[in-house]
Amino acid sequence: MLRLRVLAVLLFAVLVLSAPAAADSADVVVVGAGGAGLAAAIEAHDQGAEVIVVEKMPMVGGNTLYATGGLNAAGTQPQAELGIEDSPEKHFEDTLAGGGGLNLEDLVSVMTEQAPEAVAWLTEDLGADLSDVGRLGGSSVNRTHRPTGGEPVGPHLIEVLRAAADERGIDIRVETEAVEILGDPQGVSGIVVENDDDRYTIEAKSVVVTTGGFGADEAMFAEYDQDLEGFGTTNAPGATGDGIIMVDDIGGELIHMDQIQTHPTVHPERNIMITEAVRGNGAILVNAEGERFVDEMDTRAVVSAAILEQTGGSAFLFFDDPVRQGLGAVENYIDQGLVKKADTVSGLAEELGADPSVLEETKQAYNAAVEAGEDEQFGRDDLPAMIDEGPYYAIEIGPAVHHTMGGVRINTYAEVQSEEGSIPGLYAAGEVTGGIHGGNRLGGNALADVIVFGRIAGQQAGQF
Ligand code: FUM
Repeated sequence: MLRLRVLAVLLFAVLVLSAPAAADSADVVVVGAGGAGLAAAIEAHDQGAEVIVVEKMPMVGGNTLYATGGLNAAGTQPQAELGIEDSPEKHFEDTLAGGGGLNLEDLVSVMTEQAPEAVAWLTEDLGADLSDVGRLGGSSVNRTHRPTGGEPVGPHLIEVLRAAADERGIDIRVETEAVEILGDPQGVSGIVVENDDDRYTIEAKSVVVTTGGFGADEAMFAEYDQDLEGFGTTNAPGATGDGIIMVDDIGGELIHMDQIQTHPTVHPERNIMITEAVRGNGAILVNAEGERFVDEMDTRAVVSAAILEQTGGSAFLFFDDPVRQGLGAVENYIDQGLVKKADTVSGLAEELGADPSVLEETKQAYNAAVEAGEDEQFGRDDLPAMIDEGPYYAIEIGPAVHHTMGGVRINTYAEVQSEEGSIPGLYAAGEVTGGIHGGNRLGGNALADVIVFGRIAGQQAGQF
């Protein structure tokens, strides 16, 4: 009798251990734990849904973790406290002008109208600090929100979103890669995931895709724009277009796949993005000869092209001590050994191999423009301060791939579109989607897009 019982236990153990892993299930499964994914997961949870988030990388954050300059929103409390007058309408106009009119206007309307509420949600509900407001290229008003002292915005937002997700007990599975969305244009039923030792299905009533763009996959970005072959990237290593490919596989529509943006100020050897906020706070760009050559606050496409025309295809950010003191992000660049420093302008010119008298003249001409309130040479509208308090600093920079504006086509409810209309239960948000930024994304609009549409996708998926 005892022997029979032992045999039965052994047989049971063998059957259980050799069976395929049980399928997990949730109301909503979110693919990708960057800013959009975490915002979606929090909102879906707050609609009463049971949520699982999968992330292929060992940590959460995605490209949002790399974001530095800030989040654009117009008509916010932090702007009011700083006496800045702005409106969603101006934000809308700037976004369309930056995107060359190629933007999907209905999506831009939603982003610009809901961005102030997104700032209120992050600050008042989740406890983020977005009280410093500066300007990035292409904005006509200071509307780029970041933490006090101009600290990098991305790590702060991810910390806040992760804490909010953890407080809610949301199941976040890192090192778990979605490899397939189960469904077709008539609907979805979950995803298939893989980790080091398992492949299993997560059944879900709705799927939210927030896997980011494809700026870290050179083969993929060069396929859509051959001129970018050999370019570096500012992107997190996980930005390899997975969600775009999976949505395409089940019949979702893609849009603007050849619209790829370079960021003009990336350290050429180290591939570290130097935030546009350095220019926004007063830096200018000079070439190897020490001359200014462009409106530093023009769109990224214009500034990148101008840099590539200079000697060696690179240039230098040139700024003084007040710019350093006003922007915490600069300390990180100093700590990483990217910044040249000298007590005088001529000392800095020598460090750069430029003629000291040329750099001195460049500085004086720029300061005269600041004093006059008009930059006759290059037409820079935003002239925050003279460059005249040493020490002086320079960082070598050149363009690298930054944002892939094309991706999955969604509507204003973040529903993924097929040729037949919305795919029931399938949502997408953030850089995996395409169309909102047109031919050129404005600095600070990625986070606006990520948080606004991440929240919408989560709310819709939670209600589905
Ligand atoms: O330069 C930056 O800080 C980049 C911001 C952005 O791409 O939104």
